[in-house]
Amino acid sequence: MSRSLEKEFVGRTYDDFLFRPQGGAVASRREVSLHTRLSKRLGAELPVISANMDSVTGTLMAKTMALEGGIGFIHRAMSIAAQAESVARVKRSHGYVVEQPLCLPCDATIRQAKEFIQKNNITGILIEQQRGSGVLAGLLSNRDIPWFGSFEDHRVEEFMTPVDRLTLARPGVTAEEAEQVMYDHRIEKLPLVDAERRIRGLITKKDIILTRQRPYSSKDPKGRLLVGAAIGARGDYLERAAELIQAGVDAVLIDIAHGHSQVMRKAVEAFRQRFGAVELICGNVGTAEGAQFLRELGADAIKVGIGPGRGCRTRLETAAGVPQLQALREAWCAVEESVPIIADGGIQSDKDIFLALVCGASSVMLGSMLSGTDEAPGQVIEEPSTRQKHKIYRGMTSPQAVFEALYDDQALESALDVPAEGQEVQIPYKGSVVAILSRIRGHLRSAVSYGGSSSLSEVRAKVLADPLQYLIPLSEASRRESYER
Ligand code: XMP
Repeated sequence: MSRSLEKEFVGRTYDDFLFRPQGGAVASRREVSLHTRLSKRLGAELPVISANMDSVTGTLMAKTMALEGGIGFIHRAMSIAAQAESVARVKRSHGYVVEQPLCLPCDATIRQAKEFIQKNNITGILIEQQRGSGVLAGLLSNRDIPWFGSFEDHRVEEFMTPVDRLTLARPGVTAEEAEQVMYDHRIEKLPLVDAERRIRGLITKKDIILTRQRPYSSKDPKGRLLVGAAIGARGDYLERAAELIQAGVDAVLIDIAHGHSQVMRKAVEAFRQRFGAVELICGNVGTAEGAQFLRELGADAIKVGIGPGRGCRTRLETAAGVPQLQALREAWCAVEESVPIIADGGIQSDKDIFLALVCGASSVMLGSMLSGTDEAPGQVIEEPSTRQKHKIYRGMTSPQAVFEALYDDQALESALDVPAEGQEVQIPYKGSVVAILSRIRGHLRSAVSYGGSSSLSEVRAKVLADPLQYLIPLSEASRRESYER
């Protein structure tokens, strides 16, 4: 028997409650742990996920999210190959070992090397003997490339440091050993090779330092950044999933507007049959029945939110929706902690994140709050008359997003199926998302401290069991007093 929803949550959302401060329990807010479960098998130190939207999460946002302790879900409004490449790029970056380092062959030209470095945003390239041989011939670093004269058509092998002058290590070298070797030889890149000098990895000083600076980054057991990616539930979604899994994705998200549906059932069954226990997140639902449905299908996390998103018009166009705090509480009462819940959409300020987490969610998915940043895809646009800068944020079913996602005929067909339930808005340019995430981290730690606890999991356990003891419903006047500034 599942719990029933407390009637005080009916029709309620974030601005309807304040949290009653509790006696403090921590000496310093810095000590507060925000560790959470993202899904059944994935955890994170910051309970924040960037939304799988084309104006929010591409490669750069996903990398940054994981580095900062959350995770990003790469959107699917692109070809399968492009999305898989985006996943592979996140997995290749910043682990302490780059497992499949990018290489060029000895006969590549300096022109090709320059393009390659720029395109892949790297500072040095491993050079293999022949294309595809995987046998290390040398290393071409930025410093080796002549910046004068006309060497564009010369072969890279003329400028690289040849393999017998390189310091090498075997795969399996520990981070500490690698650091020592790199320091002793004053080098910044340490290629890993087997007995036949086949390339087995690359360790860079930059990645080792980054790992030390950010012990809270979200990593897989091999030390590579975590990344998720979205698929649909029709058409080529299984091929897409196969490519994403091949590229190393840590969690696949079946993301459809109406997740409590037979379309979802079929998609999950086919997914499980083909890919077994790959971490699978499903959404969206907004009710207890929807959450139960996804739990029974075997979802590893349930994404909750029907229509609260900033770029979303579902409630306006169809009348379907559930106020978001009610939806989260309903879902939690139905599944409790058996499956982690992701609160998706409608979060406008940091306090909403805390309320979502203590009423039912294990993590939150953010769209507009992370948009308008350097890491979000898209250009910064400057208004000529006011000099104000903005970026575009748009619902994934906005006409603009649908139109741009038409990379093939099948996408066109499915786009024409659905009338617009999303819209585009201009978001003032905000600089780096890192500042936003550290602000969220700070505010969440404060909120946990006001909750009289020393960790997010502790305050959640307390409040989830009996939220009405901790939440104060607001009158119009108290809402004005709280939020009007
Ligand atoms: P926020 O409020 O964080 O919401 O910007 C992000 C979430 O909005 C959802 N989303 C949409 N919902 N039509 C919708 O009904 C759309 O076109 C659309 N695009 C995004 C999505 O769940 C996202 O995570």
